[in-house]
Amino acid sequence: MAKTSYRICTLPGDGIGPEIMDQAKRILAAVGEAYDVDFQCEDQLIGGCAIDATRAAGVTPSALPPQTLEAAKASDAVLLAAVGGPKWDDPTPGAVRPEQGLLAIRKNLGLYLNLRPVHIYDALRDASPLRPERLDGVDLLIVRELTGGLYFGKHERQTDVAGAGIDGAAGDTATDSMEYAEYEIERVIRWAYEAAARRSKVVTSVDKANVLETSRLWREVNHRLNAEFEDVEGEDMLVDNCAMQLVANPAQFDVLVTENTFGDILSDEASMLTGSLGMLASASLGDGTALYEPSHGSAPDIAGKDLANPIAQVLSVELMLRYSFQMDEAADAVAGAVEDVLNAGWRTADLADETTPEDHKLGTRAMGDKLIEAFQARA
Ligand code: IPM
Ligand code: MG
Repeated sequence: MAKTSYRICTLPGDGIGPEIMDQAKRILAAVGEAYDVDFQCEDQLIGGCAIDATRAAGVTPSALPPQTLEAAKASDAVLLAAVGGPKWDDPTPGAVRPEQGLLAIRKNLGLYLNLRPVHIYDALRDASPLRPERLDGVDLLIVRELTGGLYFGKHERQTDVAGAGIDGAAGDTATDSMEYAEYEIERVIRWAYEAAARRSKVVTSVDKANVLETSRLWREVNHRLNAEFEDVEGEDMLVDNCAMQLVANPAQFDVLVTENTFGDILSDEASMLTGSLGMLASASLGDGTALYEPSHGSAPDIAGKDLANPIAQVLSVELMLRYSFQMDEAADAVAGAVEDVLNAGWRTADLADETTPEDHKLGTRAMGDKLIEAFQARA
């Protein structure tokens, strides 16, 4: 029988992206060997490096060149690292920015659903800014709407508007609009209820219904689905309260579902429960090819120094194995390897503290080595 083969479009991007992607590819190669699957990775450009390359080639500068999008669409899954950096921070309105590449690929692949699992590692309890006892029983899944809302509304700048400046002078005004269609809300909340039915059966739907019309629509849809899923408990929570509850009593949450901007903010907050933003992976799903990426950014300050934590990238591979390839056993072995390495006391700089022995502090590649060893011991 022919060996199973998957084509993966790999997008290392900017900053620490290439370094952490290297470790993810090495893990993937080890998975392929252990489970007799052929993973063919093909690098493409996205973000700042794509802007540079298109500019150098004399074509329209783009953070998502057509070739990248075509390769992504033709692949079985997309694995992305990170985009952005100060080099491309151009404040000119209308300037091409690395983040546009990310938003464009999400939109073009129809990735309306973004999953960010927040899992507490026993070995990292002390790395969390919260008291360890607050972390008891914490295991939540953030379901973020990813192709609507403010991110994809109109972004406009009006210049020379009478009275908009200081002391009655003319000045600028700016507008970002937030719009949601009912179907866009329904498909993510429905997914959240279906996921909760297989978990602890609680959905918290987060909105700002005391102020926003989009949130009132969101809430109506939540109530409708709540009635449909009789065995799942559904609740509404205002986003400001949710931000507070995430640090006061995070164990109350099981599946948390929310719109794009709220999900962006709350997932960074929730990542710190695990001890580091470097631990949070994400899966973006839609009707076609799915995309997997860490929740963190490109960390330009530590790029190229072998300092970055590759774990969120490796856990993105875990999610890819689970959701795109139904390789649950391999995914469990990757997740288990992360657990084993942390239990053995190995730490990258972001996870280390004053109790970490010098010889247990690892760089990006050395952490990759440990993860591969631990994976092979389990697989
Ligand atoms: C994320 C990131 C992106 C987002 C940025 C880089 C555009 O913060 O994936 O959470 O806001 O979605
Ligand atoms: Mg974010």
